[in-house]
Amino acid sequence: MEVLGIDIGGSGIKGAIVDTKTGDLISERHRIPTPQPATPDNIARTIKEIVDHFNWKGKAGSGFPTPLAHGKCLSGSNLHPSLKGVQIDELFKKVSGIDFTVINDADAAALAEINFGAGKNKDGLVAVITLGTGIGSGLFFNGDLIPNTELGHVTYKGEPFENYAADSIRKNEDLSYKKWGKRLDKYFKHIELILSPDLFIIGGGASKKMDRYIDEVKINAPIIPAENKNEAGIIGAAIAAAEGIK
Ligand code: BGC
Repeated sequence: MEVLGIDIGGSGIKGAIVDTKTGDLISERHRIPTPQPATPDNIARTIKEIVDHFNWKGKAGSGFPTPLAHGKCLSGSNLHPSLKGVQIDELFKKVSGIDFTVINDADAAALAEINFGAGKNKDGLVAVITLGTGIGSGLFFNGDLIPNTELGHVTYKGEPFENYAADSIRKNEDLSYKKWGKRLDKYFKHIELILSPDLFIIGGGASKKMDRYIDEVKINAPIIPAENKNEAGIIGAAIAAAEGIK
């Protein structure tokens, strides 16, 4: 099936047409900077621009960087407080005229990895952790998504761990990869203690540079980079729409 997949992030909103049978992008990616402030209306306008760009009339799926339940935003997270309580899938449908499935961005990236990437055919408990502006998570057991986990919000010294160990913190605090790796070591050890996963997959922008920090992360479970890199969010959002995952 061909589906428009969209990945909404803190800095950019990207869309492409995806063949959900193969996980391939079958169009160029179209990227628009995330509007500031990232209010519901501003985001919806950008979504319409992307739908219009592809002149798309079929199904669409979008990843959204906040916790969601059945398409409804539960907290504005790093985007905007006014998003809380908004039924995002309905909003996107209203503005674009087409059906939208909206799931958490890390769940979307994880879906792409389980179906077509580093998590393919991996049984047991697989934790996909995305390192970017925030820390996101997508958890799978025997290939089934356990949706809406927020493992970046496990706390460290009274604050969400993502405020200490996200890739954006490395950039803002100008940390060396070694220093950042030591923070990630604390983070992954903590998550391993809680969940004992069989496998960790690192997603998000930082998955491309794993060799620079991963030696600092001393955990028992294997930890490997995502394969779909920048496209995972787009591909996974399209899969969610094709399979009706909410
Ligand atoms: C949000 C998550 C999101 C993650 C990555 C966190 O701040 O709470 O829902 O998946 O950032 O974007």
